[in-house]
Amino acid sequence: MNIFQLNQTPGLVHQILFQLRDPDTQRDRLRFKFNLTRLGFLLAAEIAKGLPTDLKPVQTVLGSTRIPLLQQAPVLVTVLRAGLAFYQGFADAFDQADSGFIGAYRVESEGEPLEIALNYQALPDLTGRDLILIDPMLATGQSLLKVWQNLSAYGQPRSVHIACAIAAPEGVALLQQQLPAQSSLWLGALDQGLNGKAYIVPGLGDAGDLCFGSK
Ligand code: URA
Repeated sequence: MNIFQLNQTPGLVHQILFQLRDPDTQRDRLRFKFNLTRLGFLLAAEIAKGLPTDLKPVQTVLGSTRIPLLQQAPVLVTVLRAGLAFYQGFADAFDQADSGFIGAYRVESEGEPLEIALNYQALPDLTGRDLILIDPMLATGQSLLKVWQNLSAYGQPRSVHIACAIAAPEGVALLQQQLPAQSSLWLGALDQGLNGKAYIVPGLGDAGDLCFGSK
């Protein structure tokens, strides 16, 4: 699996990650969501650099030139609910994309291993498409793995990209074992690890709650 970490390069990503992590800035819910959207847009721009293009002529009022345009718009599949604000950045960047949504949640039970359940899905055909799977927080990796396994019924994409704002090494390791070797993982930042409740440290807290309020 190819792994790309946006915070290893200088740029806006650092301003955005600071604001996403800082509790004082997080209190402004609109700004928190906007920052996830901005980070999604930056990651989308990186992914776009590697997608296949064809040169297309364009005639302006003053002359003509040729521009490398994406051969096809990608399919964006987003894990609800925390993924929504992050997704918006990808949807803004890939304005012609088809979009799919999957609801995944943790079934919390004392002393039991973490179980992930899926409760909603609306997905387009993925056959031959460039798939971008969007989930802001890659913690244990169990939700993304469950979602990925569920996608097999919707056709074989030609390329697979996973996009996350912040990841823990445990989740990255699971995806490396379980997803196709040619897939790519695009991260805003790779953090230290998970705490006892499977939250990313230092992370930013619960992204879904920060976007939408506590459940
Ligand atoms: N989901 C979150 O929102 N935050 C984490 O740290 C892990 C999973």
